[in-house]
Amino acid sequence: MSQVTISIGAQWGDEGKGKWVDVLAADADIIARYQGGNNAGHTLYVNGLKVVLHQLPSGIFQKGKIAALAAGVVVNPEELVAEMENVKDLAELSPETLWLSSRAHVITPWHIYVDGRRESQMTIPIGTTKRGIGPTYADKAARTGLRLGAYVNTRKLDQWMHDSAARDPVFAEHLKSHAAQWEAFRNSQAKLAPFVCAAEENIRAAAKAGKSLLLEGAQGALLDIDHGTYPYVTSSSTSAAAACQYIGLAPKAVTSVIGIAKAYLTRVGTGPFPTELKDEIGKQIAERGHEFGATTGRPRRCGWLDGVALKYVAELNGLDGVILNKIDILTGLKEIKMAVAYDHPTLGRLTSVPSEPDIYEACEPVYETFAGWSEDMPKTGSIKDMPKAAQKFVQAVQDYVEVPIIRVGTGPGPGEGLTGNR
Ligand code: IMP
Repeated sequence: MSQVTISIGAQWGDEGKGKWVDVLAADADIIARYQGGNNAGHTLYVNGLKVVLHQLPSGIFQKGKIAALAAGVVVNPEELVAEMENVKDLAELSPETLWLSSRAHVITPWHIYVDGRRESQMTIPIGTTKRGIGPTYADKAARTGLRLGAYVNTRKLDQWMHDSAARDPVFAEHLKSHAAQWEAFRNSQAKLAPFVCAAEENIRAAAKAGKSLLLEGAQGALLDIDHGTYPYVTSSSTSAAAACQYIGLAPKAVTSVIGIAKAYLTRVGTGPFPTELKDEIGKQIAERGHEFGATTGRPRRCGWLDGVALKYVAELNGLDGVILNKIDILTGLKEIKMAVAYDHPTLGRLTSVPSEPDIYEACEPVYETFAGWSEDMPKTGSIKDMPKAAQKFVQAVQDYVEVPIIRVGTGPGPGEGLTGNR
């Protein structure tokens, strides 16, 4: 039977998914990214070289595998071509090994402009990556978007530009005032055309033939448009349930769901973050963990692991296992904390993530405190090789979230990590 694994970010993104998806990809024949666009940034090390991927799935560096961008993804054509160019010596990219869905929506210079304009007009900006993600998904929902299948066809692309200009005089003006950008945008057409195909049909046929699939989510479950901390979320569904919809697979095909979380928590952009540390410890975690955005370079807000939020994500996504990443960053801290509830000034004690941002904003975390450790973290081996205090912390996370911690990340390198509980 075909194995279908979904990997998701179990926090607000930046969990270090790139490295772990690469590990999980070893067991897959096809690695398909199912949502998001070049707002993502996955850092991994290939043959000792640091590579940051924004759109290509993290599994492309494994020989003999197929990588796909499915219907739910939004594609920036120029950036994708640049990324393909950048990795061409490290990965085998051909129409046989890279499938770009003709149904995926295209991010145009217009969408990037609208993203920036909306952000500047908001009383409290979302803090988007300004990559045009929201406006592209908005056009998709409004049924006025441009899909990859149309983008690579000159007649259809011309028609879309004409219709959009006829509908909106500001768009028409943008075409004229940003002519060079639009010209550059069109230039990637021919380069992407050979890769554009019915990716979803190909994926279903491969699954039927017994091939194993890894469905790769971008961003994180708390940025999900429905279940995340709305409105401070991204514009797609980052949850495991969405993988099937966005890839065109029946839910019954899925065999496991893996969530990747850090041993602490970060967030980029605006929005509630009860366990945020605005003190020296927060700064120390940011520096040691290199918590600066791979896409925008923005410093990430840092805080303690939020067990309540992680449990919410585990339940929402039916996680079968958690990979707890970057535990080495906590080495040397006197004590470590994990939120196990929230106290709200009027609602009292809460044990789940509230849906209203103002309520979440007013929550104070209730912490369980653990002793820290100063011994070096082993780079490989089992979690039983970790300092005792770290083992205690990992066990407590597992017990609280009620999902096995299957791996613990102890360094950025490809082999750096400990096997955990199954
Ligand atoms: P957008 O996806 O660019 O529209 O941004 C919406 C929100 O999601 C902002 O708070 C971003 O900082 C956040 N976001 C989007 N992509 C990522 C990511 O890959 N990592 C972390 N945060 C992200």
